[in-house]
Amino acid sequence: MELRALSSILACGMAVPERILTNADLEKLVETSDKWITERTGIKERHILRQGEVISTYAVQASREALKQASLKPEDLNLILCATLTPDFLMPSLSILVQKELGAVKAGAFDLSATCSGFLYALTVADQFIRNNPNWKILVIGAEALSRKTNWRDRSTCVLFGDGAGAVILGASENQSGIIDFILGADGSNWSLLTLKGGGSAYPPFDPELPEEEYFIKMQGREVFKIAVRMMEKIALELLERNGLSSSDLSLVIPHQANLRIIEYLRERLELPQDKVFVNIHKYGNTSAASIPIALCEAEREGRLKKGDLLLMVSFGGGFTFAGVLMRW
Ligand code: ACO
Repeated sequence: MELRALSSILACGMAVPERILTNADLEKLVETSDKWITERTGIKERHILRQGEVISTYAVQASREALKQASLKPEDLNLILCATLTPDFLMPSLSILVQKELGAVKAGAFDLSATCSGFLYALTVADQFIRNNPNWKILVIGAEALSRKTNWRDRSTCVLFGDGAGAVILGASENQSGIIDFILGADGSNWSLLTLKGGGSAYPPFDPELPEEEYFIKMQGREVFKIAVRMMEKIALELLERNGLSSSDLSLVIPHQANLRIIEYLRERLELPQDKVFVNIHKYGNTSAASIPIALCEAEREGRLKKGDLLLMVSFGGGFTFAGVLMRW
């Protein structure tokens, strides 16, 4: 029987805004300190859009880098899939803006919203297309501008987020590298712990009924933290167990970069040394759907991923959404 080719990441790219907001800058905005932010989150600085900038600029930049690395032209793309909850506009979608800017004239394009798990959701959706169309090349992007939805008067959230974009090209692999297994999860029972209500159809813009702070991210951080650590561990262990693997088989884990303490908890539960868990939260903060593709791209550039390596990516986000992807590099 002929073995089906797996969907493989052929290339990746990333781009972040030039403007950097440090913890010292935040000390001037709200009552906080570099010490508190570093100890409680691991974040030292984050990249933030300047006024007038748009996140599509960085989504396009990351995509161009990935196309170049894959030696592909925009017209080789069959689909563009962008995970985001902060597109430039509600209409047209961010994927369409990327499609136009690249000149990807043969590609379909749509956005997908699954908060911080968005990139892994998008990757698994793209994987299904590749299974049915092994000749396809799919551009999968995670791009986010949470700084535009941040309440800069709320110290419990404004220290956490950053902006940026990461992109990968998915195609059928010519060897046995690629996506081996995945888990997508959701639990809406605690949705109200993490919200961004304003601007949706329940509360259209300028609704006088809605308090101003509802136009920004609101979060009960401690409760979110507890759910995050539990679900990240559960998904990682389930993926390992059902594939007959143990954590020592993993070459690298790339977790969603939301809080260094959440990442450390996962690392301890998996009994992994520090060099097997990728961390770049100190430079970028939580970039939501962009966090995993940015980390993936940096890991690859730093030589942390070698052919044949077993990679686990795991995420959680508002909703709540959860996702894990196990792949052979
Ligand atoms: N600077 C100084 N003090 C602060 C700050 C700050 N920036 N923020 C909160 N505090 C204070 C609080 O007021 C509180 O003071 P009190 O004890 O006098 O009441 C104290 O610090 C402790 O507050 P907690 O909220 O309990 O702090 P915690 O240790 O839980 O850290 C944090 C807060 C960093 C938000 C953490 O809970 C966390 O990371 N949660 C998960 C967030 C997350 O991962 N979200 C991901 C989803 S994002 C998305 O989907 C878009």
